[in-house]
Amino acid sequence: MNRDSPPIDINSLVIHGDQDWTQPELNDTALAPAIHTASTYSARTSGEFSVMANEPRHPRYYARYGNPTQARCERLIARLENAESALLCASGMGAMSTTLLSLVKAGDHIVAQRAHYMGTAQLLTDLLPGLGVEVTLVDQRDADAFGAAARPNTRLMIVETPSNPTLALTDLAAVARFARERGITTLADNTFASPINQHPRDFGIDLVLHSATKYLGGHSDLIAGVVCGDSDRIEKIWKRSVTLGTNVSPFTAFLLLRGLRTLPLRVARQNENALALARFLEGQPAIARVHYPELASHPQHTLFKRQMKHGGGVLSIEFEGDAQAGYDAAKRFAASLKLARHAVSLGGVETLVVHAASMWEASLAPGQMQKAGISPALVRIAAGLENAADLCTDMQAALAAAT
Ligand SMILES: Cc1ncc(COP(=O)(O)O)c(C=O)c1O
Repeated sequence: MNRDSPPIDINSLVIHGDQDWTQPELNDTALAPAIHTASTYSARTSGEFSVMANEPRHPRYYARYGNPTQARCERLIARLENAESALLCASGMGAMSTTLLSLVKAGDHIVAQRAHYMGTAQLLTDLLPGLGVEVTLVDQRDADAFGAAARPNTRLMIVETPSNPTLALTDLAAVARFARERGITTLADNTFASPINQHPRDFGIDLVLHSATKYLGGHSDLIAGVVCGDSDRIEKIWKRSVTLGTNVSPFTAFLLLRGLRTLPLRVARQNENALALARFLEGQPAIARVHYPELASHPQHTLFKRQMKHGGGVLSIEFEGDAQAGYDAAKRFAASLKLARHAVSLGGVETLVVHAASMWEASLAPGQMQKAGISPALVRIAAGLENAADLCTDMQAALAAAT
């Protein structure tokens, strides 16, 4: 495949989209990609060395700058996100920190959400302010809040939709429109939706980021992150990744490429299972609220229909009762499941369930969970590929044990 190839369906893209027959080094008849473990590559002439050392993103120079396995995987992910280019990093947080440190400097201002993945929230409220970057956090459900918070020195707007773990949505088109008119870069964390359910770049977002540890990898056996966008922006972020040393390992890139082949199949099943669980749990007397954008009861269901194809594999629930009773029931529920596993992370083949307060109470500043809208009674459920009826039976038994 090359840029001039006809557009193909996503099911075909994940199988062939890493190929580029215009590059001889990738014109390989082996169906599985090679894992290039070399830390360095030799040149045959001084002219060739010059090209390797000076051509941006040359995949055969020194492995901190990239490698052919990584380049092949990046080509596919860029295509999945309708982007020119992608950069793989050693983790989702590696991709986020490298991106932020390449886009802003002391004196700049960022507008982001009150509800972000905890690691991103720590970058925004701890690391960046310590480096002289100002950050304003807004309620992501209010699209006008991003514009209202903008200042002359605003360089970046960051969104995460649906957000972890509250499943609140951000209006991608509204934020992108406002930012574009003012020359502000936009970055969307698309981890929860995956490229199967949402394409932020179709709504005008500049950069799309994933914790590839989750749906893209899909088997709970790797840690990686990726950022996608126009070649110029990605090259700038790549330069920072070379300095910070945050690029992915060749073996991880291989595993990720292998996982990506089944992304549409896996996510279709996870969408179905999450919707089945959301509907089942919504009818349970012990549950006060189910957060899942595909449910008609989700307060932003209209926005969901505008920008997502399906609700994704993650939902969250809140238990009835006052703060202490809800906290205790949520904790007992997570510990009582027999089929679903009590573990952090999401996007793998197995259903994972976690009590948000137990996971984050030690690492977030006092009051930060409340500001992000995370109730002590909230449990996050990341659907896997099991049989939906088996999952509902498991949850029903855990509800009985918890309440
Ligand atoms: C939405 C989101 N973004 C980023 C990350 C960070 O990814 P990683 O754990 O791969 O560093 C996570 C991890 O849970 C996440 O849920």
